Parts: sequence; C-alpha cells; structure tokens
Amino acid sequence: MTDRATALRAEGRDVISLSVGEPDFATPAHVVAAAKAALDAGDTKYTPVGGTARLKAAAALHFARDLGIEAPTTQVTVSAGGKQAIFHALLATLDPGDEAIIPSPWWVSYPEIVRFAGGVVRDVPTDAASGFRMSADQLAAAVGPRTRWLLLNSPGNPTGAVYSAAELRAFGEVLRAHPQVLVLSDDIYAPLRYMPGAHATLAVECPDFAERILTVSGVSKSHAMTGFRIGVAAGPEWLIRAMERLQSHSSGNPCSISQAAAVAAFEGPQDFLGEWRERFRARRDRVVAAINAIPGLWTPVPDGAFYCLIDAAPLMDRFGDDEALCLHLLKHGVAVVAASAFGGRDGFRISFAADEAKLDEALRRIAAAMS
Ligand SMILES: Cc1ncc(COP(=O)(O)O)c(C=O)c1O
Repeated sequence: MTDRATALRAEGRDVISLSVGEPDFATPAHVVAAAKAALDAGDTKYTPVGGTARLKAAAALHFARDLGIEAPTTQVTVSAGGKQAIFHALLATLDPGDEAIIPSPWWVSYPEIVRFAGGVVRDVPTDAASGFRMSADQLAAAVGPRTRWLLLNSPGNPTGAVYSAAELRAFGEVLRAHPQVLVLSDDIYAPLRYMPGAHATLAVECPDFAERILTVSGVSKSHAMTGFRIGVAAGPEWLIRAMERLQSHSSGNPCSISQAAAVAAFEGPQDFLGEWRERFRARRDRVVAAINAIPGLWTPVPDGAFYCLIDAAPLMDRFGDDEALCLHLLKHGVAVVAASAFGGRDGFRISFAADEAKLDEALRRIAAAMS
C-alpha cells in the first residue's frame, strides 16, 4: 500500500499514507552525533560478530533498566535489526515439521520466517472483542508435542495489544508442562506504552524459563532508528551462541557506525521518549474516537505501539473483503493496510505515526469514504 500510495502521489494525486511502520519523529540529535563521531574516529572496520563489547554492555543496561531483565553480556547479542535476531533464532532451532504458535493478527515476518526455517505455523486467531489477546486456554489448546516455539509480541504489531503480567504468568503455567517449547518475547515496542505501570515481560514473570526465553528489543521503534538496522536480544547462552554462529556466516557484524549510534541511544538521555509517548497517546485517542464514531467501524483502544487495528466486519457485505475496502479508502486519498495482510480479517490497520494535521485529514477522508 505504501508503494501504491507513492505511485499515486507521483501521478499528482493527494494520498495520505497511514501504512508505515516507523515513527515519524527525527532520530534524536545525540544519536546522530554519535554516528558522525564514530565515522570521524575511524570506527569503520569489522567488529566482533555479535556486537562490540560497548554495545553489548549498553544493551544489557537497556534490558535491565527498561524491561527488568538482568542479563550478563554473554547472554546478549546484537544484530542488523530485531528482524535478523528473530530470523537467526528460528533458523537455528526449528527442524522440519516443528510447530511455532503465533497468535494472529501477527507481525507479517513471523510466519514467513517460520516457514523459511522449515517450521509449520500454528495460528491462534484473536479478535477485536478480546482486545486481540490470546487466552491461556487458547494456548493450551494449541500447544502439543511438535510445538517448538511460541511467538509473543507485546505491545503488538498490528494490534497495539499489551499482555498483563497475570496473562503472561498464565501462559507460563501452560508451558511448564511442555519443556521443549521456546518463547520469543518480542518487546521492541515496550518503550511505547500508554498505560500506567511497568512493562510486563515473560522473562521477568517466569524466571524459571531463563533457559528458554529469547527477548528481542532494539532501537528501531523507540529511538526512530529504523534505517540504522540495530536489534538486540537477550536469552540463554546456548541460543545466543547459535544465533551468532549463523550471523558470522551470513551478514557478519552489524554496521560499526550504527552500533556506536545505538550505544548513544541506550546510554544517552531518554527524556525525549516521554514527549513522544504523549504525542502518540494523543494521536491514538484521536484515531479511536474518530473511528468509533463511524458506523460499521470499531477498534478497541490499543495500549502500545503506534497502530490501531480496526474491525470493519459489518461492512464486508458491501465490500466483499478488506482489500477491496482498503482500495476504496485509497481512492478517497488514504493508504492503510488490510487486516488480512497480518493474518487477520475484515478490517484494516492504521499507523498513527503521522503528524496530527495529516492524521486529522486522513480521518476526515475515511469518514467521508464510509458515508
Ligand atoms: C513486531 C516487530 N518486531 C520486530 C520488528 C523488526 O524491527 P527492526 O526494524 O529492528 O528489524 C518490527 C518492525 O516492524 C516489528 O513490528
């Protein structure tokens, strides 16, 4: 949809894209300065495959400070984006026919990576009525002897759903009877949460799972550094070593300049995040209020990330499917992504990582297109 929107704009059409998955804010100045300083200092050579000692220490600080996960640097690794960490973890551990449980709607890359690694996707559908959160009963029904991974993402893309500590502990109860199951906790959106209280994550809620949880995080979303390509992961040493072995024979070390920038991101001031969160929260409230006022559309309130997954089931009789609905919205000048692209159905995702004026105009166009 982003490409279609760009093509239409090139033809002179006025299209607002609410389809992107990155913050619209500029990368913080101190991070950019650290990248420039690294270049000037000649940090332009190979680094250790799993990241510099400096960045591993900074990532360990991030895991402890922001997620409550205490991990020595031997249990931390750095890759070219959170995506690569997930790719290597699954590739290193899935045997043909192994199952990975993924609650849907899901982040688009999870099922593709599982299949690439020879695994089988076990979809656990969730819906707007349940806040797009899987229940422990659903997990219990899905898990079996062939299950190798559970992929959890909180706050979630595309739903913004956030699991509570109690919900995560209930998942732990289920998984205790299945010791072969590893858990990917993708917490990359954790700094972008809009409710009070600390972030809940499985590694903290179930410390007895230390040998089987990989927590993935990074700087892409929290520090508007998507182009730098740095992701970090914390997990058991055996898995971290396996991921680094794969990395050593694929891409090698992540970019040295980007690593220096990520050190500044983790170690430098974090106060800008408070302002970003407030802006995102206010935008979220605008989106939820405007969407829920349109007959036929409904969204639960997303507690984190910068996405809203909108249920449009009552309109499917008219449009046929959610792709047709998205094309209709595109004709009215707004690009959004169909829920079916995320393994969902009958709806669409709005990214509110767009400035307030654009967002208001896009919401006005959506209301006009639906009237
Ligand atoms: C849920 C989720 N996990 C991981 C990533 C990967 O982020 P990165 O750009 O650091 O590879 C994304 C990016 O869209 C995401 O939405």
